[in-house]
Formats: sequence, C-alpha cells, structure tokens
Amino acid sequence: FQLTHELQKLLLTCPSFQREITQKHFDGFENLFARFINESAEHSIQWQRIQKLPEGAVRNYSALLGPPVDKIKAMLDKLVVVKLNGGLGTSMGCQGPKSTIPVRSDLTFLDLTVQQIEHLNVNYGSSVPLVLMNSFSTDDDTQKVVRKYQGFKVKIYTFNQSKYPRINKETLMPISKTCTTETDLEGWYPPGHGDFYSSFQNSGFLEEFLSQGKEYVFISNIDNLGATVDLNILNFLAGGANSGECPFLMEVTDKTRADVKGGTLIQYEDKLRLLEIAQVPKDHVDDFKSVKTFKIFNTNNLWIKLSAMEQVLNEATLDMEVIINNKTLKTGLNIIQLEQAVGAAIKSFRGALGINVPRSRFLPVKKTDDLLLVMSNLYSLQQGTLSMSQLRMFPTTPLVKLGYTHFGRVKDFLKRFASIPDMLELDHLAVSGDVTFGRGVVLKGTVIIIANHGDRIDIPAGSMLENKIVSGNLRI
Ligand code: UTP
Repeated sequence: FQLTHELQKLLLTCPSFQREITQKHFDGFENLFARFINESAEHSIQWQRIQKLPEGAVRNYSALLGPPVDKIKAMLDKLVVVKLNGGLGTSMGCQGPKSTIPVRSDLTFLDLTVQQIEHLNVNYGSSVPLVLMNSFSTDDDTQKVVRKYQGFKVKIYTFNQSKYPRINKETLMPISKTCTTETDLEGWYPPGHGDFYSSFQNSGFLEEFLSQGKEYVFISNIDNLGATVDLNILNFLAGGANSGECPFLMEVTDKTRADVKGGTLIQYEDKLRLLEIAQVPKDHVDDFKSVKTFKIFNTNNLWIKLSAMEQVLNEATLDMEVIINNKTLKTGLNIIQLEQAVGAAIKSFRGALGINVPRSRFLPVKKTDDLLLVMSNLYSLQQGTLSMSQLRMFPTTPLVKLGYTHFGRVKDFLKRFASIPDMLELDHLAVSGDVTFGRGVVLKGTVIIIANHGDRIDIPAGSMLENKIVSGNLRI
C-alpha cells in the first residue's frame, strides 16, 4: 500500500501529457514488485526437476530448407524486424545509445542494420520495416540519428520501453522524488528486454502491424552483428519443413568455454524454458557452466508469431522470471532493479522450439575485444552483413583480451592502433598496459604483450609477431 502511495505521489510530478503512459509503467512495475515479494524464496529452480530435452525440441539449422524463390517476397512482406535498442554504450566508454557507436568502416550498429534490411527490400521488392525499441536513455539521440535514413528503402519505427523506479534495497521504496529523468536520471531504469512484449502492445504497434497483415517478428540485440534476417528460419516459422504450429523460435548455438555464462534451454515442468545463471542454485553453477551438460546457449535472436504474442498478452498468460539486479550507486546507496529477459517468455508459448544455428549468427560486440575482431580482416562487409573471411583456415574466432585501462574505452582503443593488425592466422591475443600498434602489424598464433606499470611498448609498423611474448620494456 505504501508503495502505491509513493508511486501516486511520483505520478503527480509528471507533466500531464505523460501521466497516462507513466500510470501504465507503474502498473507494470507494481506487478513485477508483487512477484518479487511473493516469489523471491523460490527464485532458484529445483535442479533435480530439470528434465531431458525432448527429441526435436531443438532443431538443427542445417536441416532447414530455403523458401521457393517466388514465395520470398510474400514471406518477407509478413515480417517485422525489431532491434532491442534500450542500452547505452557505457561499457565501452561511450556516451549515448550503443547502436550509434561506429563498428566497421565508420558505420554504426544502426547503419549496418539499416543497410541489411534495405538490401533485402531492394533485392526482393519487399517492405520489411525496422522497429527500434528505445529506452528513455536512448530515445532522444536515436530520434536524431534515424532522420538520416529518410531516403532509404526501409521504414523505421520507434517506440519506448517502460521506465521503472529504482528501489532502495533497505526500505523497498522508490529512491526518486520526481518523474523527470532529466533531473533525476539515477532514480529510473529500463526493466530489461523482457519489457518488449507489453511495451510493443502499449505502443499500438502490435495491433497496427497485425492489421497491416504482418505475421512474424524477428527480435534481436542491436549489438549482435550476426543477427540478420534468415530466409530459411523464416520459411520454417511460416510452416515449411515440419515446423508444425511453432509460434516461437529461439536461436541457440553451441557453447564454447568463452560463453559459459549465457542462458541455456531446459525442459522443466514439461515446457521448454530459458535457464539463466542467476536462477541456478549456487552448488550447481559449475554444472550450469559445463559445456558438456548444457551444450547450447541463447543468442537472443527470437522469431515469434504476432498472433500468438497477442494471444498470450490478452490472456495475461505471458510469464517471465523476475531478475533481481542489485546495484550500488555512486553515492554508495544500494538499490534493486527488477528486470525480465525477452527469451524467458518461451515457456508461455505452447509448441515453442529452439533452433541450433551456426555461430556466425552470434557476433555480439560487448567490449573493445570484440570490436578489434569485427574491425579486422577476419571479416568482410557486404550490404551491412559481416562474414568471416574465406582466407581464415579455421572458422573459429581468435580469443582476444585487451586490458581495460588502456584499451577498454573506444576512444583510447582507436588511438592505440595506427591500423588494425592482420589477424587471419591469430588464435589468442592478450594485451595489457601501455601498448601501441604501428601500421601493418601481423599477428599469428598466440601473442601476449604485457607492458608493466610505467613501461610502454610500441609494436613497430610492419612487424610480424608469431607465437610471441613481449613484456617489460623490451623492444622487438
Ligand atoms: P544487454 O546489455 O542486456 O546485453 O543488452 P547482455 O547482458 O549481453 O545480454 P542479455 O541481456 O543476456 O541478452 C542486450 C540487448 O538488449 C537491449 C540492449 O540495447 C541490447 O541490444 N536492451 C537491454 C534493451 O533494449 N532494454 C533493456 O532494458 C536492456
């Protein structure tokens, strides 16, 4: 009751034109909060109740068939592409939306996405729209940027996800005294990408796209450069190749030791379900991370039938676990954010399936380590799509670890490379400390470069480092 009272007080601080939508956000928030209070004791799943994945629950991408050429346009015309664009570029030291960071040939995540979809539309004469789910922290900047795509053959729509109040961990009351995020940014947060479903419906787009005759939505992280529209998967969802009545498809891919933390698919209470590390009981975390026990992980590329989405929303059967995100603000205050993950909705869709896709469909850029790879000659760029160079002997990407202090922020990272090294034959790269790379450096095998505190290592232009350790203030 006290929380409702506090929220009503907050509502009064909103400009009147924002009250209706804010009230909707508060309703959503109260719902989540009630679940947090009532369910937290059983936050973890019961390990012994995890069932074996049923035969056919995760299909193999290689078994899919492409659509007949004369059906492609009609199929694409029923598709809506959604990119999750609520996140900022702060983890790579950038201000503004992550999608506006240049990642390859001066093109941003957003530029590449628009190029990909425009290419489809031009190629097939289709009209696939791009929908961006923004948050209150990315909307203003995104609106400014999308104007530049006006002449492109892709219609761009945006809507905002919810804005929820951060909660004081001790008192469980909102920490903010005003709804205006301009003056109190710390008091609010976007509640994870699971918020997509209700925000998409609240925005009116779900209804609008259904009335336009759209049937499918492809949702993915804007920072996953491998998340392109795939005609074989679309064909499968559209009823080709024994899909049955599949309303929801989650693209998963084989786990390597580098992605042990990603969510996996399990069978639980006779339903397919996303299991995130946060839900795993402490004494089973190693089991969860095992590449042998859980072989696949969620790429967050999801294909959903719009009619099925509307049904679960209208019947209020959409159920996603509450994720408790504990944070400490700069002021030292401990707060809680309640969030949800978009893939967790899989359990609410009867007949949902996983699809095991090639690794190339998962190319996320989370750190400058990833940026180095996508900027290098390991990839070539065509119409917004990056593909691994034919010149690389093995299809795996090298493991790259750059020290955060000198390389973690995009601005610092760029200054340290006169040009991006040739990495075609690289397996491992570890760089730490004050290191710079001259133009035309070639890296092969395992290369470790460590400049100790106070030292600096400049890799000379044109040098070739193969299976080499460079450390201290050694010159090579
Ligand atoms: P995350 O920052 O959550 O990445 O953003 P992650 O932790 O690697 O991945 P997940 O959560 O396990 O998938 C993933 C995508 O979701 C968007 C981000 O902009 C990014 O594209 N996002 C995240 C939102 O749109 N809203 C949110 O509230 C959170």
